Amino acid sequence: MTGRVIDGVKLAATIREDVAARAAVLTTKGVKPGLAVILVGQDPASQVYVRNKVAACEKAGLHSVLEQYPADMTQEALLSRIETLNSDHRIHGILVQLPLPKHIDSHRVIETISAQKDVDGFHVSNAGLLMTGTPLFRPCTPYGVMKMLESEDVVLRGAVAVIVGASNIVGKPMAMLLQAAGATVTICNSKTRDLAWHTRHADIVVVATGKPGMVTGDMIKPGAIVIDVGINRGADGKLCGDVDYASVKEVAGAITPVPGGVGPMTIAMLLVNTIEAAERAQLLSRSR
Ligand code: GUN
Repeated sequence: MTGRVIDGVKLAATIREDVAARAAVLTTKGVKPGLAVILVGQDPASQVYVRNKVAACEKAGLHSVLEQYPADMTQEALLSRIETLNSDHRIHGILVQLPLPKHIDSHRVIETISAQKDVDGFHVSNAGLLMTGTPLFRPCTPYGVMKMLESEDVVLRGAVAVIVGASNIVGKPMAMLLQAAGATVTICNSKTRDLAWHTRHADIVVVATGKPGMVTGDMIKPGAIVIDVGINRGADGKLCGDVDYASVKEVAGAITPVPGGVGPMTIAMLLVNTIEAAERAQLLSRSR
């Protein structure tokens, strides 16, 4: 058996087209949707990610500002910049690229972003709303994974889903979204005993560990859907995921490639969250 390849580039393009149409409607109403992206420091991977995010915004007709600051920026200066953006009515979404330099408390930073502009969905209010079943913003990567599963008509009600990786950015919100859709969810972490036992029982496996080759074909149930969230640079300089693509593809029913899988979906869902933030702000301003 050879698994279908889930094309994230193609699906992301259709989502971005929809965002562009919504952005055009808002713009005719006098509201240009705006996203501010903040990068502190010079991490090369983060620089690529933020440039891609800003470029995708421009292409979809959203206004975006990229603010880059040196690695020794003080926490106070960053918090003060966020507060200014919170009250800037031209900005509907604020994203601070993670990880931040060690001297900055990322929790403080995330909590300073207005929950209504938190297009990453990382603010505790947004995490709480997601957990209690009334999300305002869904974190972009898990949201993108849900769209990929939907596009494949994967039945989530009653499905067994195993998530490898328990981060606040991917693993935990992924679990909330899958559980809300009716799946039975297990979150595995680096201390999980016999990881393969868990993954072998799963209809859906989502891997987000940052460790290349973490999940291999012998750990997958034949026909399972495998979603690879990892983006790593291999010894050969090429991008690779957390999943051993060659062996897993032989067993899985469907698999996401790296590159061209979850990555483009994360950016597309950031645009969706930004347009939703702008649409909400526009409705609020009309009702005032
Ligand atoms: N670093 C890795 N993924 C993300 C993300 O989705 N949002 C932000 N802000 N930082 C990240």
